[in-house]
Amino acid sequence: MNVSNYGTPLRLANEGKITLYGPEGFEGMRRAGHLAAEALDLVAEHIRPGVTTEFIDQFVFSFAMQHGVVPATLNYRGYPKSCCISLNHVVCHGIPGSRTLIDGDILNVDVTFIVDGWHGDSSRMYTAGHISRKAERLIEVTYEAMMRGIDIIKPGATVGDIGYAIQKYAESERCSVVRDFCGHGVGLVFHDKPNILHYGTPGEGPVLEAGMIFTVEPMINLGKAHVKMLSDGWTAVTRDRSLSAQFEHTVGVTPTGVEVFTLSPRGWHKPPYPPQL
Ligand code: MF3
Ligand code: CO
Ligand code: CO
Repeated sequence: MNVSNYGTPLRLANEGKITLYGPEGFEGMRRAGHLAAEALDLVAEHIRPGVTTEFIDQFVFSFAMQHGVVPATLNYRGYPKSCCISLNHVVCHGIPGSRTLIDGDILNVDVTFIVDGWHGDSSRMYTAGHISRKAERLIEVTYEAMMRGIDIIKPGATVGDIGYAIQKYAESERCSVVRDFCGHGVGLVFHDKPNILHYGTPGEGPVLEAGMIFTVEPMINLGKAHVKMLSDGWTAVTRDRSLSAQFEHTVGVTPTGVEVFTLSPRGWHKPPYPPQL
């Protein structure tokens, strides 16, 4: 999710109270998160060279309709599709279309479902055919970066602690952290306070409390961190055209730590997924 292109000044976005959800909220988010994760599992079975990104989007739309839920991105601020598909040097918010997957592509599919008002937001990387060693490494680093950020989460930790854990690891692997987009509070609202920056300083930023629900969704580049927006107003790409990867989980802060709402029911956390083995 974006800091700049929705016109939300960073300076204002963390102001005001962060919503704390109770047991009903956590129950609702478990259902929404599980459904998004189930869709991402099934998406894995459709990814191969020759398939268009539009086909994958149609699959996500049909899945939502069959389950009586709404894809949150559809018509969101004018966004036209049921998911985002970001290929190779696309950082995020790629719009599904006529592009056919080819051997060596890496892509992120980002799905958000609204289930009884609760938003489950998650994304994973996928691969088409045989990918390069450097693409494989980027995917590994990005997944590990997200998990290191999530592992920090507990009451008393800060948003800066999450960002620091992600940044420190990604940069130690000679990768860069995208600054222009961040994770976000989520729940009954799609994009809420707090902003979860994927870089930062330990001890800085809002203090985490039990009941907070937000996403952790780092975008990590093989090259420089700089991003530019394409003329469609959505697609963000790396300026140096280096490869970019992203994973996203929706999580809740519990009295003792963290609950991840969007875990893969099949344990398909990162590629290669079994159909490709
Ligand atoms: N699911 C994205 C996120 O992680 C948001 C996509 S908004 C869209 O926050 F409009 F680009 F689809
Ligand atoms: Co998100
Ligand atoms: Co998302």
